[in-house]
Amino acid sequence: MQNWLTLLATASALLVGSPCLAHPQRLTATILSRQGDVRQSYDYVIVGGGTAGLTVADRLTEDGKTTVLVIEHGPLSDSSDISTIDGGFFGMGSPFFYNIDSVPQVHLNNRTTPVRIGDVVGGGSAVNAMMTIRGTVEDYDRWGSFFGGKNPAWTFKGLLPYFKRAVNFVPPAVAVTDASKITYDTSYWGNSSRVYAGWPSWQYPGTTAQLNAFKSFPGIEFPTDSGAGETGVYWYPTFMDPVTVTRSYAKTGHYGGINRSNYHLITESKVTKILLCGTTATGVSFTAVNGSSNVTVVKADKEVILSAGGIHSPQLLQLSGIGPRKILAAANITTRVDLPGVGQNFQDHPMLYATWTYKNFSIHPSPEDRYTNATFAAWADTAFAVNKTGPLAIATGNAGAWLPFSVVSPRAAALSAALQSQNHTSVLPPDTHHSVAAGYAAQMASLATALLSTKTSFYNMALTGGETNGLIVNLHPLSRGTVNIDPVDPHGKEPVVDYRALSNPLDVSVISDIYRFARRYHTENPLTAAWGAVEELPGANVTTDEQWREYIAEAISPSLFHPAGTCAMLPRELGGVVDEELRVYGVGRLRVVDASVFPTLPGANTCQTVYAVAEKAAEMIRAGGSGGSGEREKEGVCEGGE
Ligand SMILES: Cc1cc2nc3c(=O)[nH]c(=O)nc-3n(C[C@H](O)[C@H](O)[C@H](O)COP(=O)(O)OP(=O)(O)OC[C@H]3O[C@@H](n4cnc5c(N)ncnc54)[C@H](O)[C@@H]3O)c2cc1C
Ligand SMILES: *[C@@H]1O[C@H](CO)[C@@H](O)[C@H](O)[C@H]1NC(C)=O
Ligand SMILES: *[C@@H]1O[C@H](CO)[C@@H](O)[C@H](O)[C@H]1NC(C)=O
Ligand SMILES: *[C@@H]1O[C@H](CO)[C@@H](O)[C@H](O)[C@H]1NC(C)=O
Ligand SMILES: *[C@@H]1O[C@H](CO)[C@@H](O)[C@H](O)[C@H]1NC(C)=O
Ligand SMILES: *[C@@H]1O[C@H](CO)[C@@H](O)[C@H](O)[C@H]1NC(C)=O
Ligand SMILES: *[C@@H]1O[C@H](CO)[C@@H](O)[C@H](O)[C@H]1NC(C)=O
Ligand SMILES: *[C@@H]1O[C@H](CO)[C@@H](O)[C@H](O)[C@H]1NC(C)=O
Ligand SMILES: *[C@@H]1O[C@H](CO)[C@@H](O)[C@H](O)[C@H]1NC(C)=O
Ligand SMILES: *[C@@H]1O[C@H](CO)[C@@H](O)[C@H](O)[C@H]1NC(C)=O
Ligand SMILES: *[C@@H]1O[C@H](CO)[C@@H](O)[C@H](O)[C@H]1NC(C)=O
Ligand SMILES: *[C@@H]1O[C@H](CO)[C@@H](O)[C@H](O)[C@H]1NC(C)=O
Repeated sequence: MQNWLTLLATASALLVGSPCLAHPQRLTATILSRQGDVRQSYDYVIVGGGTAGLTVADRLTEDGKTTVLVIEHGPLSDSSDISTIDGGFFGMGSPFFYNIDSVPQVHLNNRTTPVRIGDVVGGGSAVNAMMTIRGTVEDYDRWGSFFGGKNPAWTFKGLLPYFKRAVNFVPPAVAVTDASKITYDTSYWGNSSRVYAGWPSWQYPGTTAQLNAFKSFPGIEFPTDSGAGETGVYWYPTFMDPVTVTRSYAKTGHYGGINRSNYHLITESKVTKILLCGTTATGVSFTAVNGSSNVTVVKADKEVILSAGGIHSPQLLQLSGIGPRKILAAANITTRVDLPGVGQNFQDHPMLYATWTYKNFSIHPSPEDRYTNATFAAWADTAFAVNKTGPLAIATGNAGAWLPFSVVSPRAAALSAALQSQNHTSVLPPDTHHSVAAGYAAQMASLATALLSTKTSFYNMALTGGETNGLIVNLHPLSRGTVNIDPVDPHGKEPVVDYRALSNPLDVSVISDIYRFARRYHTENPLTAAWGAVEELPGANVTTDEQWREYIAEAISPSLFHPAGTCAMLPRELGGVVDEELRVYGVGRLRVVDASVFPTLPGANTCQTVYAVAEKAAEMIRAGGSGGSGEREKEGVCEGGE
């Protein structure tokens, strides 16, 4: 099957042996190489040195006094696979990823699918496709709406200062804005972070043509900037250092280049438990991944911050006795705080492979020319080696425009009505707690409204600027899954990941609707007609709802690598795990800061939002208060010594 992923895999395979472009990072925070070097206590202990964890650690230690220990499962790596812009991420193998498969997906013909998340310092930001995308105003206002909409903190406007703090936007070169008609507006961006949003200095001309082809559809907008919070078709930047043209990520931005004795990081270490005294977090225990089963205890004088990501943050809460009582009991874990939402409300963006091939594409150079035209391929290599420009300066999958758009389709009213009148409980797992079900109903009410709105993007198509296109993404899935500890061996095994893909059957309707639009775009559009698009997959003969359901069940991937929602920021009566200050309900001195707190996914790739949430969290933590409502009991129930 020739699709986006196989193309990318081919591209990266051809690049084996490309030079290491890593930035020399002489200054770093203090790295501890042995468990014995860890102090007995720190002000803050952060679990997970990923995207959010390193951001928070950097901000908390900026004063030179506050002591922070970050404990990361993965290694500290300078591999060129990580720093390389072109082809790096799909060339990466197991050392940087956890090895987890989902349980068989009942609505996907019992297929299991890989759970791709980063296992390295930098977490997801070290292995992702570097696409720098932000959701819409409605996506972030929705978060605040679940708390009654009175708190301006969790709205687009409230988050904008943190988006600005999170990313340093370096505008594209005039030559490329002129040639490709790229627009941007720096008022949506900041310029102080050491995490950069840069631009390749060269683009395929086909991208501009494909973007212009949306102009024949009434109602599709063309926002000036990807950060404006508007729906539509736009150019977006790349998480890269525009000078070195290498990946810019949590490690380079929030760990490297820092010389602070109060910022410690220990790698290849696995946190096994959050230690509680009564219902107050006092520290964590961890072991070396290397093999020694010695358990080290470290105390947090102020707070424990859980930043282990959408899959492992709920696991650690459950292992520590914080979670749904039934699930903990099945695993023989004593419930310390019964919190039914932990590990529920699991979301990711489903993606569907489909393929259109343009038989008469006449816009060159195209991405395919790199494999068919030796002259172009040679120029590409030289342009990158000499001037860091040309096609190799475009990160894999970042071929210019990202296309999240809103079409109020003829079926939208019917879909919205169907969602509104659906018995929501019937699409959740049978034993779902009533608070989690209430939270789901609140989300579905919000999304039913959004289906009728032009300000929330459900549709997304990735185009390549070349002859083969077709990846589509459902930006607001309605199905919800679960991430729970494995009762068979909760401490030894990875959590049980169940996307429950398509468990809400209306997702099939939404996805087929996106696909129907994609078909119109490629084949019924005066501006693309000349390209001679042929639908290879699934084939123009797939038209009925039942045929769509069959194809989607066979072809969809439940994950665009954006696991979220499993420690949701929602009111407790809506199945929430953390409050608006990201403090875990019922537990003192414990926050969660990572993608697991998103109550609903933004209609965008998640990395930029994780950085912004982490920046906001760091400010809330610095603003003080030990936080949380847990109680430090006097006797008998302190773990790890007291
Ligand atoms: C292949 C891939 C492609 C992607 N592409 C894009 C993209 O192009 N654009 C975009 O915006 N987003 C993309 N994403 C998503 C984005 O990168 C993630 O949403 C984001 O990085 C998640 O940040 P986080 O802080 O929540 O978790 P992570 O960054 O995953 O950090 C969690 C960290 O915790 C560590 N950890 C877990 N358990 C333990 C434990 N018990 N003890 C110690 N440490 C632990 C992990 O090793 C990890 O380093 C992609 C992700 C992947 C995996
Ligand atoms: C999927 O597995 C379940 C449980 O094993 C089984 O009942 C069902 O028939 C299977 N479905 C398909 C499509 O194979
Ligand atoms: C950075 O942003 C600030 C605030 O918007 C602005 O005043 C300043 O001129 C910018 N600096 C650069 C170098 O662009
Ligand atoms: C790091 O900071 C320490 C203490 O301030 C200083 O002695 C040392 O020279 C610094 N190292 C570098 C490489 O700047
Ligand atoms: C793990 O083992 C490697 C190689 O044996 C060693 O270099 C590294 O320091 C160890 N890490 C920890 C955290 O003990
Ligand atoms: C494990 O702990 C024991 C007892 O404290 C110690 O002697 C041993 O060196 C430790 N092993 C490792 C690999 O740290
Ligand atoms: C559950 O825990 C108890 C007490 O620690 C232990 O005796 C029992 O064997 C455990 N059961 C299982 C199934 O692990
Ligand atoms: C191959 O690429 C070169 C450089 O871009 C271009 O000039 C030439 O026309 C291309 N040849 C073909 C056959 O497309
Ligand atoms: C590199 O840039 C210089 C200066 O702009 C230019 O003269 C040269 O042709 C470029 N080389 C390549 C291979 O792009
Ligand atoms: C909704 O579905 C649940 C679970 O399938 C069922 O128990 C309940 O009776 C249904 N409610 C209504 C009003 O149909
Ligand atoms: C491509 O162009 C040729 C010549 O104009 C035409 O015969 C052919 O039908 C076109 N192919 C497609 C798929 O449109
Ligand atoms: C569509 O046509 C292709 C190619 O002839 C065939 O393999 C496929 O089964 C057809 N699909 C349907 C739903 O009829």
